[in-house]
Amino acid sequence: MRIIVLGAAAGGGLPQWNCGCGNCNAARVGRIPAMTQSSVAVSADGRDWAILNASPDIRAQLAATPALHPTGLRDMPLRSVLVTNGDIDHVAGLLTLRESQPFALYATPAIHAALSANPMLAALREDLVPRRTVALDQSIDLAPGLTATLFAVPGKVPLYQEGAVVETGLVGETTVGVELAANGRRALYIPGCADLPGWLLDRIAGADLLMFDGTLWEDDEMIRMGLGQKTGLRMGHIPVVDTIAALRGLAVGQRVFVHMNNSNPLTDPGSTQTAEAQAAGWQIGRDGMEITL
Ligand code: MLT
Ligand code: MN
Ligand code: ZN
Repeated sequence: MRIIVLGAAAGGGLPQWNCGCGNCNAARVGRIPAMTQSSVAVSADGRDWAILNASPDIRAQLAATPALHPTGLRDMPLRSVLVTNGDIDHVAGLLTLRESQPFALYATPAIHAALSANPMLAALREDLVPRRTVALDQSIDLAPGLTATLFAVPGKVPLYQEGAVVETGLVGETTVGVELAANGRRALYIPGCADLPGWLLDRIAGADLLMFDGTLWEDDEMIRMGLGQKTGLRMGHIPVVDTIAALRGLAVGQRVFVHMNNSNPLTDPGSTQTAEAQAAGWQIGRDGMEITL
């Protein structure tokens, strides 16, 4: 199985257009690597590819990734796109993929309903881009030799569907993790997750690779930095410090943080927090990072 991190940042990216925080300014001047928004590409054979989450940066991500370049006059190796929630950083890139390229679009019924409620997505013609509904715990073929199974993880509805009261520990069809299997290897992709209960740790145990929600280092980071009013948990994201503690000692081949917010000190390769996460066995996702299992 080949996995390419197309974008390692959370919504907003690094630098974020309206953010003057230390990390965003450091990325602007090239002191730390810039990061595009949350997406990975996966293949079992290196020829046919699936993309997990279509970020608003997908055009630049595809341009930067030779494995996904056109193979013919109007053809390229994308076979399917799967989205793990309806958040804008994971679905807005679908609008970019409208140029008559056939691929299958996979999501749970709840996420498909959120997409269908947006009339602009009709630009993705259903005769070319069939919308395939995936039930939780059902296995599907994303590309030749590559299967995926979706499972519910604690989360919340997308920002644009939030009502007056928001449940952040919702376990259902709105936020899912993906179990990828190819050539006898098992990888898990969980870019958004609000909690790590025992049943989820059981599912993670024994994986060859875990790519996990690295949005914030600490729950109140954005409030302390003066960047916003919300905690990580309110946004549906368990803080990295809690994830490192919960997974300490769990048998996982490789563990990689993805979906990092620009406020997160892990975006700075020279930070003490980066060293701390690495000492605990974690890799920090970067755009273009490739993992072969
Ligand atoms: C998130 O992961 O919390 C969302 O992407 C936030 C957003 O929709 O901007
Ligand atoms: Mn996000
Ligand atoms: Zn910033």
